[in-house]
Amino acid sequence: MSQSSNNRTAPVDRGQCRTIDLSGKIAQIDGHWQPRVVAEMNDYQFKVVKVEGEFQWHRHADTDETFMVLEGELRIDFRTGPSGDGSIVLRAGQMAVVPKGVEHKPSANSEVKLLLIEPRGVVNTGDGATSERTVENDQWI
Ligand code: NI
Repeated sequence: MSQSSNNRTAPVDRGQCRTIDLSGKIAQIDGHWQPRVVAEMNDYQFKVVKVEGEFQWHRHADTDETFMVLEGELRIDFRTGPSGDGSIVLRAGQMAVVPKGVEHKPSANSEVKLLLIEPRGVVNTGDGATSERTVENDQWI
């Protein structure tokens, strides 16, 4: 999260002034739910990830989080409203912003490739205890 830790791991150019092939980057990732940073804009990071199956319920108290689907169909459940039945579906070319503090659970029946946009330092499993799904931050690809 700190500038110093970022400087330790980020490429010198932070992905700037160059063409970034998102599909090519995703193809280098092993496994699902493993976000990798491809570029930074100010304090924000662009992360590619491929997902399949259900993630865990979580929230980010301090930041919004953007999901942009490149391929496949992503579902995001929300515990909104008294019935807790909020959910959306994003397909290729579609995106959504999850507001800070809102609990959400992404899932995909089959593999989805997406781009995440969020501030540097955001933990994929949100606030609180880590889990087997928690991935180390600032892993560039
Ligand atoms: Ni999240």
